[in-house]
Amino acid sequence: MIVGTKGRGSNMLALVEAGRHGKMPASVELVYGSNPEAPALSAARETGVPVASFSDRETDFDALLIGLLRGYEIDLVCLAGYLRLLPPHVLHAYRNRVLNIHPALLPKFGGKGMFGHHVHEAVLAAGESESGCSVHYVTDAYDEGAVIHQLRCPVMPDDTPDSLAARVLALEHRAYPEAVGMVLAGLTSE
Ligand code: GRF
Repeated sequence: MIVGTKGRGSNMLALVEAGRHGKMPASVELVYGSNPEAPALSAARETGVPVASFSDRETDFDALLIGLLRGYEIDLVCLAGYLRLLPPHVLHAYRNRVLNIHPALLPKFGGKGMFGHHVHEAVLAAGESESGCSVHYVTDAYDEGAVIHQLRCPVMPDDTPDSLAARVLALEHRAYPEAVGMVLAGLTSE
């Protein structure tokens, strides 16, 4: 798992739990975040999963990250709340094996700057009747990789960005383990 500097880590926890309770044919073996003080990394430490943290602004970040992932024999990389693009070398080394979760129904409401409350504000401003979450492959452009799995929910007339975010987040926690299962099923049948 790769978590963001400000993320809560709720998707990371959902994946750890899903793996531990047999709801996903995989287990979280490592959590990386660039900020050792990030709430998501504190949450990860409490689960007992190994945690790694070093700056993603180092010039050799790509080599460090690939070395870390290979050292832990990581097959699939899941991003949650990580707001930067991954270096091309990492995407190449883990081609079609890096996933992200986005709190809207891509291809709508994605792209640079579309994160957190900005997404839900845009959904409400557009008068959408439904929203949801998307798990997609990560490429060298924000939120543009192929969608693997989506779950949908209604947008209520009295929704605020916070109330919509909470409804979508509950879906995220189901969708991510399901998507990991779908990807692994595809990889094993190759
Ligand atoms: C989630 O809403 C996810 O869709 C987005 O960033 C948020 C991360 O939340 N990419 P958490 O840290 O997993 O709770």
